Amino acid sequence: MRSHGCGDLRQDATGEEVQLCGWVDRSRDHGGVIFIDLRDRSGTVQVTVDPDLGSEAFAVAEHLRNETVIQVAGRVRARPAESINTKLATGGLEVLASAITVLNSVKGNLPFPVSVHDEENTREELRLRHRYLDLRRERMNGNLRLRARTIQAARRFLEDQGFIEVETPVLTRSTPEGARDYLVPSRVCGGEWFALPQSPQLFKQLLMVGGLERYYQVARCFRDEDLRADRQPEFTQLDIEMSFMGQEEILELNEALIAAIWKAARGVELPRPFPRLSWHEAMDRYGTDRPDTRYGLELTNVSDLVAGMGFKVFSGAVAAGGSVKCIAVPGGNEALSNVRIKPGGDVFSEAQAAGAGGLAFIRVREGGEIDTIGAIKDNLSAATKAELLERTGAAPGTLLLFGAGDTATVNKALDRVRQYLARELGMVPPDRENDIWNFLWVVDFPMFEFNAEENRLEALHHPFCAPNAADLGNDPAAWATTLPAARAQAYDLVLNGLELGGGSLRIHDSALQRQVLQTIGLPLEEAERQFGFLIEALDLGAPPHGGLAFGLDRMVMLLAGEESIRDTIAFPKTQQARCLLTQAPAGVAPQQLQDLHVASTWVEPE
Ligand code: AMO
Repeated sequence: MRSHGCGDLRQDATGEEVQLCGWVDRSRDHGGVIFIDLRDRSGTVQVTVDPDLGSEAFAVAEHLRNETVIQVAGRVRARPAESINTKLATGGLEVLASAITVLNSVKGNLPFPVSVHDEENTREELRLRHRYLDLRRERMNGNLRLRARTIQAARRFLEDQGFIEVETPVLTRSTPEGARDYLVPSRVCGGEWFALPQSPQLFKQLLMVGGLERYYQVARCFRDEDLRADRQPEFTQLDIEMSFMGQEEILELNEALIAAIWKAARGVELPRPFPRLSWHEAMDRYGTDRPDTRYGLELTNVSDLVAGMGFKVFSGAVAAGGSVKCIAVPGGNEALSNVRIKPGGDVFSEAQAAGAGGLAFIRVREGGEIDTIGAIKDNLSAATKAELLERTGAAPGTLLLFGAGDTATVNKALDRVRQYLARELGMVPPDRENDIWNFLWVVDFPMFEFNAEENRLEALHHPFCAPNAADLGNDPAAWATTLPAARAQAYDLVLNGLELGGGSLRIHDSALQRQVLQTIGLPLEEAERQFGFLIEALDLGAPPHGGLAFGLDRMVMLLAGEESIRDTIAFPKTQQARCLLTQAPAGVAPQQLQDLHVASTWVEPE
């Protein structure tokens, strides 16, 4: 049907007879001559329709609505110098139409203009409702192509390294990755349910027991959790597992993989090795296990310094086992007024949203003088003040912001304030223009964290991560006590403050696996019922193995400079986990429920 892509035409085609197909991006009538911007996936080219060259084509062109699908036959010619469009790859030429055929007309009203000229202003709801129109636009089209290039680069790299792609089941048992499961009732096995996989975790481990040694999969995962810009109920992992490799070898291989992807998708050479930071140091210096290291504003722990102070907010927090930490904001005196830090202010609100009661502050003036509320000033000895300025590196003009309370809340609040200030003070470039790639491995995670609500330990990653052998010790009889405090051989890859992927070495010893499941509060029989198949496999010649999974949607989001993974997925769901295009989820016929042995308890709200 066509000889060229619209966007592929170049000067060397001048004089050629061509045939093009595409969509009318827009058309303009310039006093008798009609100009059509014709668009296909390769780009746009100007089609010129001159009534003197044939009235039939002109008659068709006169009535073309935007987004009509047409076929054009014509001759390529150079545009006169004054009408060259330097912004367009095809801007130096035009196609003089001899015939235009309408392949399909646009019958309804377009819900929004598709043309690149009006792209940015459409509400996302409308874009999702008519996603096929949105996909015609250069931005989404480009993102999907970038996604395909990313996957292609990953496949190439991994297959060159001897990895093979294996598909794992989607109808399976619940895998504990910490979210709620999507469930599928079984018709054949009445009263029983499949769960959609939150990840292929257990199957990939079983593939290692199966002797595959090097597995990967572009794997769809399902998690019923609260959605955010970087989370979808169904998303894609680049999932990897390998045998007979230590942590260091796994990290190195994955750095090479990431470098190959970035080279293919963005054309950049990433410097390697990526920096490493222990989980403890990350929490201490940034208050989070996924720090954005594109800017400073690090946290300083001053708990020891202020523990004996008469200012009760500080000393009380330390006495109760908590912490006092501070962020030094260079130039903060000028940039941030008291109003912004006190109740009602924007900086205060950030801290409050993370659970903090407020932010104490000190303004450092010339000559080491300080301004602050009386209660702090009256209780700050000269020695403490000097040490405080020394430790935080505060120069005149610096604003010190303090968080005091239980350590987790202080970390959460200051992490949030740090990120907010970095954006407010222009320390991070906007995502779309960003070409800074601060990769960071966070390593040495704790095995467990305490879940206060359920009053039990839970696995920080998942309960199949291997503990650090030195922390665990050689005596299985002591594991019940050494395990809870042990570090895991687990690692996360962080990029510009976002968790791009994570993984670990796995437990390949059944006794240790049982012990971990017991530590998170699973009684032995329950552990056997849920994970007996894994424990049994571990006893039948499981090799040492480990791996990780990258969030593919997030990876593409960062590569594309987008702010939401919805813009990297062809047909994403909304924050309410709904597909606006197909209106899924939807009701089903009562007979279908009956066949599945399911009855709904849902009551429509008044
Ligand atoms: P984890 O749960 O950390 O690890 O997931 C790996 C990566 O998947 C991405 N991700 C998501 N992306 C979009 N929407 C979501 N709802 C979502 N949840 C997670 C993140 C994350 O880093 N089985 C382990 C991996 C392993 O140990 O090998 C796992 O699933 O980028």
